[in-house]
Amino acid sequence: MAELQRDPITRSDFLGFGVLGAIMGAILTIPPVAFVLSPVIKTNILGQSDVDPGWVEVGSVAEVKENEPSVFQIEFPIDQAYGTKHIQEEVPESPRSLERFTIRNAVWVSWKAPIKTQGRQGSGGDELAAAERPAILDQKTEGFTQSEREEIMSKLNVLSNSCAHLGCPVRWFPDQKLFLCPCHGGLYDINGGYVGGPPPRGMYRYTQAEVREDGKLYVKHEYDAGPEHREKGPQEPYVV
Ligand code: FES
Repeated sequence: MAELQRDPITRSDFLGFGVLGAIMGAILTIPPVAFVLSPVIKTNILGQSDVDPGWVEVGSVAEVKENEPSVFQIEFPIDQAYGTKHIQEEVPESPRSLERFTIRNAVWVSWKAPIKTQGRQGSGGDELAAAERPAILDQKTEGFTQSEREEIMSKLNVLSNSCAHLGCPVRWFPDQKLFLCPCHGGLYDINGGYVGGPPPRGMYRYTQAEVREDGKLYVKHEYDAGPEHREKGPQEPYVV
């Protein structure tokens, strides 16, 4: 009688099924999750990006206004392992099918406003003097020498329009003389410095930016992630 009531599945069988189930679950779950998170891991953890690393033209620095930021639209080419169009013939060494897209970004460019009094995070930001537009731009708009280009660059803020909180596009409000993020109310000054709201820092700055002889500004898709992340190298915002 006791023989008939015994459970046909032993304790070691039960544990074996559990281990097998866990292995099968991992095999089915990890690859898709890794695929979905791959761009995030590359961008935010490894500091890499699928965006083309070349220079992109922004526009003429002579167009940057005197006392308010100017916005320029730019396009970065990007190769993504999503999409339907195979370009294996263009990237034969790639084991994946890639498609070339274009990412459209807005770049905010302004003349630096010297800081009169340094503010502290959360205390309303820095007190700023009037922005300084280089005098050379009153004489010419192209044909700049090396030293003139260096002077222009030393006075330029070249900022991403992706908010440093969660990446929403920021807008300039001339009456308040502030950038405002419409998502959660983040505020920044004309230099991109933090003024208030949830962002943990000021706006992302382009670390690779240069003015050339033709008077135009060029950038690469690399940003300063702030002092606490600087040792990790170039970073990208949450939204490219
Ligand atoms: Fe800009 Fe939240 S995304 S304040």
